[in-house]
Amino acid sequence: MSPSQFEIGWQPPAPQSQNVPGLESRMDPLPVVDEVPTWNGKATKYKGANKLLDRKAFITGGDSGIGRAVAVLFAIEGADSFIVYLSEEQSDAEQTKRMVESYGRKCYLHATDLKSKDNCRKAVDEALSKLGSINILVNNAAYQMMTDSILELSEEQWVHTFDTNIHPYFYLAKYVLPHMKQGDTIINNASVNCYVGRPDLLDYTSSKGAIVAFTRGLSNQFVGKGIRVNAVAPGPVWTPLIVATMTEEAQKGFTSPMGRGAQPSEIATCFVFLASNDSSQLSGQTIHCNGGVIVNG
Ligand SMILES: NC(=O)c1ccc[n+]([C@@H]2O[C@H](COP(=O)([O-])OP(=O)(O)OC[C@H]3O[C@@H](n4cnc5c(N)ncnc54)[C@H](O)[C@@H]3O)[C@@H](O)[C@H]2O)c1
Repeated sequence: MSPSQFEIGWQPPAPQSQNVPGLESRMDPLPVVDEVPTWNGKATKYKGANKLLDRKAFITGGDSGIGRAVAVLFAIEGADSFIVYLSEEQSDAEQTKRMVESYGRKCYLHATDLKSKDNCRKAVDEALSKLGSINILVNNAAYQMMTDSILELSEEQWVHTFDTNIHPYFYLAKYVLPHMKQGDTIINNASVNCYVGRPDLLDYTSSKGAIVAFTRGLSNQFVGKGIRVNAVAPGPVWTPLIVATMTEEAQKGFTSPMGRGAQPSEIATCFVFLASNDSSQLSGQTIHCNGGVIVNG
C-alpha cells in the first residue's frame, strides 16, 4: 500500500502510460483502496459497521480501480464478492482477492469478456453457484479512448465502447434480477462526463448518458418490488483506466474544483451507501462524487 496521498497532500501524479486495460500494480503512486480522508487533512482506515453483513455482491471490473475499492469496502462491511475482469488483469484480481480475504470475507474470481451476452450469462450462473445468491449487482466495467473529433472517431470504436459500457449492464441486470428479492440493489457506474459533455470522449460520454437513463428506467420497473437501482457519476479518479487511456496532457489536468483527483476509496464509499439500507429512500438517482462540479440532474 502506498503512503496515504491524503496525508502527504495531493500531488498530481506524473503522467504515465500503459496499454489497455492497464494494471493497478504498475501505477505510481498506487491508488488508495481502503483509506478515507479525515476532516483534518489526514487519513484513516475505512471502518465498517456490518452494513452489508453476509450480503453477496457481483462486481464487474472488480480487479482494480473503483471496482477493487468497492470489493474491499464491501468486505469491511461484511459482504462476499464475485469479481469479473479481463484475463490480462489476473494478477490485479488476485491482489483484490487477497485484500478482501484479509478482512475475513470471500472473493471469487472470474475472468471473461463481458461484451458477449453468453459470457454475461455464464458469469451470473457461476456467481450464483459460488455465492448462493446475488444481493448487490455492481455494473462498473468500462472502456474509453480519447479522440478529439467525431470525424476521427471510428465506427468500430463507437460500437466497441457501447458493447463494453452499456450492453453488459443490460445483460447482467436482466440475468441477475430474476434471482433478486426485496432489499437487493443494483448500482451502475456512470461518469461526470455525461453531465458536462466531455468532447474528447464522445463515445464514452454518450454510453455513460445511456447508463444514467437505463438506471432511471430500470428503477421505475423495480422500485415497487423493493429493488433499488441507482448510479454513481465520479469525476477524475486515480485508476488504471486513466493511465491506459488518457494522454499525458489530459493527465496533467487530472483535477476537480477540490484541487485534486479522487482516490478509488472515496468513490467506493458511495457504493457502500447505495448498497446498504442507509440509502433506503434512494432509487433511480445518481450520486455526483465528482469533487464539486455542479451538474444538472
Ligand atoms: N477513473 C475515473 O476517472 C473515472 C471517472 C468516472 C467514471 N469512471 C468509471 O469507473 C468505472 C471503473 O473504472 P476505473 O476507473 O476504476 O478503471 P479500471 O481500469 O480499474 O476498471 C475498468 C475495468 O473494466 C473492466 N473491463 C473493461 N472491459 C471489459 C470487458 N470487455 N469485459 C470484462 N471487464 C471489462 C476491466 O476489468 C477493468 O478493470 C468505469 O465504469 C469508469 O467509466 C472512472
